[in-house]
Amino acid sequence: MPTPVDIIQKKRLGKALNREEIEQFVRGCTDGSFADYQTAALLMAICINGMNAEETRDLTMAMAHSGDMLDLSSLSGPTVDKHSTGGVGDTTSLILVPLVAACGAKVAKMSGRGLGFTGGTLDKIESIPGANPAMEIDDFIRTVETIGCAIISQTGDLAPADKVLYALRDVTATVDSLPLIVSSILSKKLASGAQNIVLDVKSGSGALMETLEKSEELARMLVNIGNATGRHFCALVTDMNQPLGMNIGNALEVREAIEILAGKTGGALKEVSLDIGTHMLRLAGFDRPRERIEEALTSGAGLKKLAEMIEALGGDPRVCEDISLLPQAEKIIPVPAPESGWICSMTACDIGRASIALGAGRIQKSDKIDPAVGIIMTRRIGESIEKGEPVAFLHANPASDVESAKKLLLNAIRISKEPVETPPLVYAVIE
Ligand code: URA
Ligand code: CA
Repeated sequence: MPTPVDIIQKKRLGKALNREEIEQFVRGCTDGSFADYQTAALLMAICINGMNAEETRDLTMAMAHSGDMLDLSSLSGPTVDKHSTGGVGDTTSLILVPLVAACGAKVAKMSGRGLGFTGGTLDKIESIPGANPAMEIDDFIRTVETIGCAIISQTGDLAPADKVLYALRDVTATVDSLPLIVSSILSKKLASGAQNIVLDVKSGSGALMETLEKSEELARMLVNIGNATGRHFCALVTDMNQPLGMNIGNALEVREAIEILAGKTGGALKEVSLDIGTHMLRLAGFDRPRERIEEALTSGAGLKKLAEMIEALGGDPRVCEDISLLPQAEKIIPVPAPESGWICSMTACDIGRASIALGAGRIQKSDKIDPAVGIIMTRRIGESIEKGEPVAFLHANPASDVESAKKLLLNAIRISKEPVETPPLVYAVIE
């Protein structure tokens, strides 16, 4: 059997690792027989010398199998999941999971918390009074069978190799590597069990990949490697040069999801949710996917499904009828536009950071978030505004750093004297 040093040396020299070597490495970093410094050295060699498609697939499979593989085969209906690479005001999961379930697909979704300036579905769900997304696997599968969907926290034993690798990548400047990103994302999705998976790869100032070219490359690689594992994947490359929804912050994003499912509001978040949902149904084998998902929205079936899911998680389903039952901030502070014109940019990462200054996210892992605080934007890129009109409202509590939030927000927004074109919502669909 090759030693850790042999494996590191081989990759350092730019050679391709075989499946056995990759499996030994993944086993080693999970069970501790590879020391952290050896794992870190190999990560750096992979980061610099890359991995071919076969190596990336083998790494993905080995990481997926490093812990429990959820078995969803007992569910009576096609299983479908989605994953977003993370963004600001990206509340698509809360909208399309119930919509797709209302159409008859089974959605057993495991979600994570906010990371950096991006929000996390789990934090949003926990902002609903009573809701607790920490469910046992048996209950999870039973809930998905009964109501069609559930969103819970990732269990401790889902792709444990990724936890080790991600933590080391974070502190060794090796996050930014396509094979490492692809295997990290796909291993967790494969372990979560769904047969059909739609990936939402964000592109822009608030995304993992800033340029369209890099986002498309990531999307193509995710789909190719994903399909090579035998599951069905597709990816949408969507815009994250501005927040997707108008609301940023946990309870505020739940509120926008409810308003969209209730037919009370529309916009980019609704459109992208319908697009992703359509591809989820299509991959899962439904005919007329677009018609079905639109029908689930207009009939109110999606909102009813969301209420059922909230109740199954122990939360108060009445929030779906009465958003005032969601936590509310003490103060609502308008942020006036400094000049008149057309909004030409809204750097999503800085708007995310402004919401964190208010308390909607964490700076340190142990920080407690305030579910009520956040930002409601009034404009999107291309829309006009008069000087002094509010460009956003800050929802703040006494612990919020309102001054920093205001500064970050105003710095994130550029206003042009000339009309500006509205950017597309979806750049590409990768099959
Ligand atoms: N998201 C992940 O889960 N892993 C990565 O490596 C990057 C983004
Ligand atoms: Ca992610």
